[in-house]
Amino acid sequence: MIRFFTAGESHNKAVVVLIDGIPSGLKLSLEKISVELKRRRKGYGRTERQSFEEDEFEILSGVRYSETIGSPICIKVLNKDYREQDFLGDKATPALTVPRPGHADLTGAMKFLREDLKDISERSSARETVGRVVAGAICKQLLEQFGVRIGSFVTKIYRVKFDKNYLTVDAGMLIKYHEAAERSSVRFPDILKEKKIIKLIDNVRSNNDTIGGEFVVFAVNIPVGLGSYTQWCDRLNALITYYLTSIPAIKSVEVGLGKKYTDFCGSQVHDEIFYSPKKGFYRKTNNAGGIEGGISNGAPVIVSCSMKPIPTLYKPLKSVDIKTKKSSLANIVRSDICAVASCSVVAESMLAICLADEFKKKFGGDSLREMKLNYKNYQKCLLNF
Ligand SMILES: Cc1cc2nc3c(=O)[nH]c(=O)nc-3n(C[C@H](O)[C@H](O)[C@H](O)COP(=O)(O)O)c2cc1C
Repeated sequence: MIRFFTAGESHNKAVVVLIDGIPSGLKLSLEKISVELKRRRKGYGRTERQSFEEDEFEILSGVRYSETIGSPICIKVLNKDYREQDFLGDKATPALTVPRPGHADLTGAMKFLREDLKDISERSSARETVGRVVAGAICKQLLEQFGVRIGSFVTKIYRVKFDKNYLTVDAGMLIKYHEAAERSSVRFPDILKEKKIIKLIDNVRSNNDTIGGEFVVFAVNIPVGLGSYTQWCDRLNALITYYLTSIPAIKSVEVGLGKKYTDFCGSQVHDEIFYSPKKGFYRKTNNAGGIEGGISNGAPVIVSCSMKPIPTLYKPLKSVDIKTKKSSLANIVRSDICAVASCSVVAESMLAICLADEFKKKFGGDSLREMKLNYKNYQKCLLNF
């Protein structure tokens, strides 16, 4: 089993991630971890913090001479925006007492009985997702050993949409969209609409408002047989949805055609099955998003997610001061205007962690060598199916 936990507050010294279950013998590229962290910082519409954070990291355990040894891996990512006065010595900064609608401030303060909302916002902040991206970068490297590639692209910012049908069995096409997104400052694959989106974000910023959007995250070269219908909690679609909706501000996750399934009759949408000696069983369409009966079917896994608008507004909404109980305007803290691009990178990481865990369940093994042998044996079984 591959599990991970994160610790750390947004302006404390560091975010730490502990990843357990990565098999031994995986050569880790630190450069690839840095690249993923850099991708997370990008995206037009984010705060200036992204320009000075370097996400410098240090491996504390589980790796010797750049290779995993099977022990838990612990990695620390430094926060350049560390504010010592917020954490050490006598309390020096005034308490924040007016919760932001749409954020964790009020629910968190009531749950943990805290009087300073900073106790909540420091941890509920999306800075925590750097830990997920580090864990995801390691899981991506594990999956690469089996030819799996994970990518994403933004499909909607506010009301500007990517019109192409992305539900394809053609992995090359998905990778093309991903690569186009990589070249875009908003990770939008249709470059002709990029300027429009940038203008939109500028307008939203000058109105002191925020926006959300949608993106697709996918995995190609996934073998048949990950996940299971035999137990409710083993269905691959359920697991992927769980991992992705755990990302702050993600409000829906749709597998394949998702809710659009209901616009059609069954005869129009179910992916018909074909066979050829060369390809084995295959489908020409991929409305199922690569999952049938809670099991991967060999087609690309394709999932679409929606992110709500950022809750912190520079024209704050009505709220109530938790100390005085008087009506007041919500606290303002430095905040993104639109973070859909960055969120899509976090989603890639979560999909990688989920799928790496499923690989481990299906193919087992404490070492990469053992895992690869099991994988090969299963491929042989399928050849004779
Ligand atoms: C990459 C990313 C960046 C975010 N940036 C901000 C931000 O700058 N300000 C903010 O208020 N919320 C931001 N959020 C969203 C909040 O973290 C989220 O809305 C909050 O934790 C409440 O959780 P919920 O929306 O799931 O209810 C961001 C989320 C992500 C994934």
